[in-house]
Amino acid sequence: MNSQQLTVIVGAQWGDEGKGKITDFFAGNCDYVVRYQGGNNAGHTLVVGDQVYKLHLIPSGVLYPSAISVIGTGVVVDPRVLLSEITELQKRGINPRLLISERAHVIMPYHIAMDEGLSKLQGELGAGSTKRGIAPVAADKMYRHGIRVGDLIEPEIFKEKLKTAYAFNTQIITKVFGLPYSASIDEIYQEYIGYGEQLKKYITDTEVELANAYRNNKSFLFEGAQGMSLDPDHGVYPHTTSTNNIAGYIEVGGGVGFNCQKKIIGIAKAYVSRVGTSPFPTELLGDDGENLRKKGNEYGTTTGRPRRVGWLDLVQLRQTVRVSGLTDLALMKLDILAGLGDIKICVAYDVNGERVEEMPASLAKFRAAKPIYETLPGWSDMSETQVAEMVKNGFKDLPTNIKKYTEFIEKNIGCKISIISLGPKRSETIVRT
Ligand code: GDP
Ligand code: IMO
Ligand code: MG
Repeated sequence: MNSQQLTVIVGAQWGDEGKGKITDFFAGNCDYVVRYQGGNNAGHTLVVGDQVYKLHLIPSGVLYPSAISVIGTGVVVDPRVLLSEITELQKRGINPRLLISERAHVIMPYHIAMDEGLSKLQGELGAGSTKRGIAPVAADKMYRHGIRVGDLIEPEIFKEKLKTAYAFNTQIITKVFGLPYSASIDEIYQEYIGYGEQLKKYITDTEVELANAYRNNKSFLFEGAQGMSLDPDHGVYPHTTSTNNIAGYIEVGGGVGFNCQKKIIGIAKAYVSRVGTSPFPTELLGDDGENLRKKGNEYGTTTGRPRRVGWLDLVQLRQTVRVSGLTDLALMKLDILAGLGDIKICVAYDVNGERVEEMPASLAKFRAAKPIYETLPGWSDMSETQVAEMVKNGFKDLPTNIKKYTEFIEKNIGCKISIISLGPKRSETIVRT
């Protein structure tokens, strides 16, 4: 599992599957841990012993001094958030070995104000954004008046570019959305030049750094944010985010052509959670939903919003296997399904009387999709001691019904489940050999 030069971790559902936990689990054996997309819309939780770390921008390998953390070109960076994350870690005795791509785009304060207006305008067709400025910064990049991290340390260029970006964004905020906007261009310029000074020591050409390391046989762990159904091209559009998260994006977001074999690990909960707006075919409502949400502690790491929860959806996982080319799947939070009785799995959708096994692109079809379930027997609650025992003994000694559940999924999606997670801690993980 760890002899691989390049491993990619991707979300297989709607985000919050446990990517942070699995990245941290493998990061000790890697030279570089790289975020390649997303921004601080992400919230990745690591639990080591009694210590909990919540990261938004810094890669989840940061707890290991041996691994270099890279914020790649495809990430959108809010420097205020990044600086406070660095400070928080330093207070806890961790000095990040961090590199930030000079080509990564910067989330500016007007992007955050734009996100507010966009959410109102898009209403039910919106995604329930985290209001971190993700869609506006991605749009500015495509309009070609975005600000890049490297601009923050080139005052003249920054001033020149900011004029266009500020005028464009503030006019939309005030004239299209009718919202107030008071920050002046000078205030923003001064503030962000200050951030550039503080971040200067980390800013570099990460693409060349990574390419040289690749040539020197160093090992890489790419850490995805978000998940399959949030990918703007392949997810449930328009209820998505605005940076691609599928495994193929590592070369755009990392800036290196990796012509080697990759291990691509999809991370999936044993059920599904979704924070934000979209149809959700397997959603559990009422008491059943509330019980699972409470048991799974399904409240957003970034926004604190209650996450919607539901049964595992194999239509969604089939798409992840296909689009990201998964070599492995990690099945998370099996401890949370314990003690719930029989467990349902959605194997296909019924769309107006037709059986559909692959994710429809049509929003009309996805809205109409009704889950077709198979029911499997559940397993009993497990104490921490029992989990420790299970981890020691490995996959073969897991409760029979967990093994049945796992094997049922593997057969239906055509991908092996090589990691089983039975708790939030780094140690509560089984790698199947
Ligand atoms: P990410 O965004 O994919 O990194 O996931 P989040 O950190 O946002 O959400 C996953 C949550 O589940 C975190 O609170 C983790 O600590 C927790 N977690 C991860 N794996 C397990 C597991 O196997 N069992 C339990 N009970 N919690 C887990
Ligand atoms: P991690 O990396 C779960 C969701 C938002 C919303 C949609 C668009 O922790 O898994 P955005 O702010 O990106 O414009 O919001 O995407 N979303 C996430 N949901 N986990 C995430 O990240 C998410 N990042 C964005 O809730 O529906
Ligand atoms: Mg998360």
